[in-house]
Amino acid sequence: MASLRVMLVAGARPNFMKVAPIWYAIQKRGGISVILVHTGQHYDPNMSDVFFAELGLPQPDEFLGVGSGTHAEQTARVMLAFEPVLEKYKPDVVVVVGDVNSTLACALVAVKRGVKVAHVEAGLRSGDRTMPEEINRIATDAISDYLFTPSRDADANLLGEGIPAERIFFVGNVMVDTLLAHREKAIQHSSILQQLDLGERQYAVITLHRPSNVDSEEALHRMVEVILAVQKRLPVVLPLHPRTRSRLGDRVKVLAEEGVILLEPLGYLDFLRLMCSARVVLTDSGGIQEETTMLGVPCLTMRENTERPVTLTQGTNHLVGASPEHIITSLEKDVLSKEEHRQYTLPEGWDGHAAERIVDTLIALWSCKY
Ligand code: UD1
Repeated sequence: MASLRVMLVAGARPNFMKVAPIWYAIQKRGGISVILVHTGQHYDPNMSDVFFAELGLPQPDEFLGVGSGTHAEQTARVMLAFEPVLEKYKPDVVVVVGDVNSTLACALVAVKRGVKVAHVEAGLRSGDRTMPEEINRIATDAISDYLFTPSRDADANLLGEGIPAERIFFVGNVMVDTLLAHREKAIQHSSILQQLDLGERQYAVITLHRPSNVDSEEALHRMVEVILAVQKRLPVVLPLHPRTRSRLGDRVKVLAEEGVILLEPLGYLDFLRLMCSARVVLTDSGGIQEETTMLGVPCLTMRENTERPVTLTQGTNHLVGASPEHIITSLEKDVLSKEEHRQYTLPEGWDGHAAERIVDTLIALWSCKY
């Protein structure tokens, strides 16, 4: 039997920590050849290269360099650039992760060229079709051959959408694999707490980049109000996504004058170190909801919905919406007035072995085929 050829695709920051454990599991397993493709959706060194270096990923075999643009431009550019790469390597299966534009674009190209597609982190649904990522999730799942899910709610979502059970494989959470593999290293090697002079559980970390929170004046105004209200209670560390920095404009000066610690986007290890010792994390990210649950750190998710409900039911996450009053009430009631966070349990399959289960499944599927 010829060895299985896997093409592994990453495009944007939250993809890199999902691809890394799969790449490692393939190396460990042996007998599989892997082609690593980076679409270049994210391209700044601190949004991309630092993750490859810290996660020990090799240089990608192909870098498509698509860059930023409208959703249509970006998705179309990935598709155009990906098609010849697919033709060049002729993989047996294309593995896409997460829900960014690159995920959908590469899945669509592959499936139309008759190449099998595996989607990692399949089945997550926020129910909010105004989120571009929700459209990417629904469309990618609908066309993928193999759906690797991180939690049982994802299985139920896919079944509810009529996807046959034999295409769904519950494997657990690959981002957790990366977190568990790097947590000790982050604690030992990152000096971010000393650099910023921050004490254990003495500060809040805030991240913001969703269009719904930063793209309109009204939303930005609300978010600035939240940041300043949190800063009155405990020091705020705010690593700024490029989208958010450009939208904030001169408001960054106001935040800095009030003592908010404004940073460029951080690498994986520094950000993980910051989360580990934070009193609370306030965010609109998807992945951070999961990472804080793994770390047992309270998280306030500043969105109206989440595609990761398991972090609410079992984890440390609170869905607090975007109203400053509501967010600060929850900060006081759910976090600052409590010595310890409520009991939480780790979701099933969040054990550091999800990527191995993915690779085992692919091998099993291919040994049945040939
Ligand atoms: C993308 C993903 C989102 C993910 C986020 C993580 C989609 C639809 N969205 O959103 O799901 O949570 O990444 O960061 O795929 N920019 C830079 N340098 C970079 C990358 C971007 O300066 O390396 C700037 C550009 O001005 C760009 C803007 O950031 O226009 C937004 O980048 P883009 O990739 O369009 O979307 P994100 O908001 O990063």
